Amino acid sequence: MYNMATPGWSRLQTEILNLYRQRHILKRQLSTLRTQITKNPNSLERTRVDSCHLCMKPLTCSQTVPLRYSSAVIANYKTNPFSLVETEVSTLCDKIKQKFVSEKDELKDIADYYFDGKGKFFRPMVALLMAKAVNFHNTSEDSIWSSQEEIAMIAEIIHTASLIHDDVIDGSNTRRGKPTVDSVWGQKKAILAGDYLLSVSSVALARLGNTEVVAVLSQVIEDLVRGEFMQMGSKENENDRFNHYLKKTFKKTASLLANSCKAVSILGNSNEDITEVAFEYGKNVGIAFQLIDDLLDFTSCEEVMGKPTAADLRLGLATAPVLFAAQDYPELNPMIMRRFNEEGDIEWARKLVAKSDGVAQTRMLAEEHSKEAIRQIRTLKQSIPRDSLEQLAVILLQRQN
Ligand code: FPP
Ligand code: MG
Repeated sequence: MYNMATPGWSRLQTEILNLYRQRHILKRQLSTLRTQITKNPNSLERTRVDSCHLCMKPLTCSQTVPLRYSSAVIANYKTNPFSLVETEVSTLCDKIKQKFVSEKDELKDIADYYFDGKGKFFRPMVALLMAKAVNFHNTSEDSIWSSQEEIAMIAEIIHTASLIHDDVIDGSNTRRGKPTVDSVWGQKKAILAGDYLLSVSSVALARLGNTEVVAVLSQVIEDLVRGEFMQMGSKENENDRFNHYLKKTFKKTASLLANSCKAVSILGNSNEDITEVAFEYGKNVGIAFQLIDDLLDFTSCEEVMGKPTAADLRLGLATAPVLFAAQDYPELNPMIMRRFNEEGDIEWARKLVAKSDGVAQTRMLAEEHSKEAIRQIRTLKQSIPRDSLEQLAVILLQRQN
């Protein structure tokens, strides 16, 4: 008989606890898998691989779920880092819409408008993958997972509110390939609808009952507003300009990703080091994501992007490709200062950017941030969600829209 006096008792207890944790994680992942397979049985055939990604041993039928995931999911995740959270994400849109006013009225129509299942849901997917990666370190109960799912939804609601306001500020007519809220319902209703979405996100956040998480995600709202303000001003000094741009980029884009990752980590009861890794990963992925967005504004077209391109110069904004180009073509500096508002400025600036290596340097900077995100995430325990986050940091460099 074993008892507390038995040598190795506490090690045995720890091992039993770990086994329980793994069983719990496996059970949940198995149910996700079953749903994926039922939804798309054909993809199993096409994506079969012969060896397990984790242990490299040959797979047999009896090893459909050899360690944590089936060969199909492992193969699929190599081409789509989001495959691990697809099932959860497919239900998020409806869950979000359920949070909006219950009676069918105009406010509900506007609130629902962008939750049409066509959005990329990039932020919720990153948050959910991070939740899975950090939960690998900790005990993860169902209640923890559902609170982390709430963060994913809150992130998307805040993001959507900011886009509705942004389109009013930028006077944009299209977003995600359809008319903006502003152009359908007018500015006043667009602003109020954005405020309404923020109020819904605040209620959902408060309901989580974790004051640290409330502070973390409220910081995002401040950052979004400050980032937008920073974008309205420019720096006289050329050396300060790039710092100003990067700081603005963090606040406008990366803060939401960084702090959503931080929030899911806190809710997962992670220690401070893991939470810091989660934040740094989100921050670097966010900055890389925005740098690519700024680059695509010079290299892509409206059909591909689903929103106007070549827009930044027209809005008076000097983003990374222009700032890099100005190092070779200083004649860009006075144009930057007058926010490209003189006749011919925009065409001239575009030509100089095309002649310079501004686009290539922007891509290189995005790559640096992607590498830093990977360096950070590799400090977590190896798991498939962690690998997906790593792959995501690479894939975002190749995105076309
Ligand atoms: C898109 O920028 C906009 C944002 C990432 C955030 C905008 C923030 C605000 C308007 C502040 C108000 C915030 C809240 C929470 C209501 P973009 O114009 O560079 O990108 P786009 O090409 O997608 O329009
Ligand atoms: Mg805009």
